[in-house]
Amino acid sequence: MTIDFAALPHDFLWGTATSAYQIEGAVAEDGRSPSIWDTFSHTPGKIAGDDHGDIACDHYHRWREDIALMRRLGTNAYRMSIAWPRVMPGGDGPANPKGLAFYDELVDTLLAAGITPSVTLYHWDLPQVLQDRGGWPERDTAEHFAAYASVVAARLGDRVSQWTTLNEPLCSAWIGHLEGTMAPGLTDLTAAVRASYHLLLGHGLAVQAIRAAAPGAEVGIVNNLSTVHPASDRPEDLAAARRVDGHTNRWWLDPVHGRGFPADMREVYGVELPERAGDLEVIAAPLDWLGLNYYFPATVTDDPRGPAPYARSVRREGVPRTGMDWEVDPSGIEALLLRLTDEYGARRLYVTENGSAYPDVVRPDGTVDDPERQAYLTEHLAACASAARKGAPLAGYFAWSLLDNFEWAYGYDKRFGLVHVDYRTQTRTIKGTGRHYADLIRRHREGVAKAA
Ligand code: IFM
Repeated sequence: MTIDFAALPHDFLWGTATSAYQIEGAVAEDGRSPSIWDTFSHTPGKIAGDDHGDIACDHYHRWREDIALMRRLGTNAYRMSIAWPRVMPGGDGPANPKGLAFYDELVDTLLAAGITPSVTLYHWDLPQVLQDRGGWPERDTAEHFAAYASVVAARLGDRVSQWTTLNEPLCSAWIGHLEGTMAPGLTDLTAAVRASYHLLLGHGLAVQAIRAAAPGAEVGIVNNLSTVHPASDRPEDLAAARRVDGHTNRWWLDPVHGRGFPADMREVYGVELPERAGDLEVIAAPLDWLGLNYYFPATVTDDPRGPAPYARSVRREGVPRTGMDWEVDPSGIEALLLRLTDEYGARRLYVTENGSAYPDVVRPDGTVDDPERQAYLTEHLAACASAARKGAPLAGYFAWSLLDNFEWAYGYDKRFGLVHVDYRTQTRTIKGTGRHYADLIRRHREGVAKAA
């Protein structure tokens, strides 16, 4: 499989991505307060193996070692998230100096290592105190999010230029409030729709807050999108695919692009939006870039008795799958990059996450070979380059993930890392895919040097 490196810009960002709760640990240190994920993961039966993020990869203490790993991979960018409960433990109260100091030093050290930090403000770890006051279904949470964004942007904005407001709001709203398998664990359509609205409102308010606190900031939002295919030509399945596209893709993209919330989906949900005059303009604040997290496609069939959007995924036989049981389809990432370009007029795009979990085996000599993950990476990068060749303004790719980490409801069993983590000893080992990624990065750079 060849990758058309020449289709990628010379200053392409080659990155890795993580998020705070999945790697940091140190949940009760230096003034951090509990988040909804601390509560959820400590609720018996919610997480495989009753795992939790109390220690995770102990990144809070080992971050220097982790930056050294990024250097060994040759990456020039790192997508990380800030833990709201570390920086503002009261949710809306004063900032915690120790929390801010941690990210301050992290950012300085990344920059000194030649690695551009790309900072996400919300990767799902809402302070529990705000959940206790109603969480995302309540409008106040959106306003508190903007206040928190302003504090972080004011502190780091002199050195950080790339800002993400929300990571995958779909998961926060639909999985957290409708399906119930992520924090806060609700199964309530009204709460889910209200949460989705306030997440996007919070995004818009945070865009304003970041721009005010850090002039020159480049702000975007990160969505996990899927290509959606009907399971058959039956009109019911075609309509189901349209609904799933609305639920997964359009609900999150349209409002941010000034198109409002899709009318067909408003009807499907049948829930009144907590709209106030002027909100839609706030939500549609112009952005500098869009982030795409892509993992798998969806093939769906009508399911009138199921929960909204009244469709369910069907399993296609005879197709490759990852250890998450997710279908491998690199053509999806190309199709979505082109859709964002053609249908939504994206001016700059990043693949902010893409990767795969497979069961890893540590050999007696300590090495980890992971040919399936390596193939997944190569095929998806080839598809990204193909999209770029066809006109997608792709400016960077962030592999999920730098490290094996806490994979939410799946606990530590699912490993997405380019670097293996032995959770007993916290030993880090670069996997075969990590070495392969380093090689691909080197090849792109050699091409750039030759062209110069
Ligand atoms: O681990 C998650 C990440 O937190 C958000 N995007 C998907 C990844 C893999 O499931």
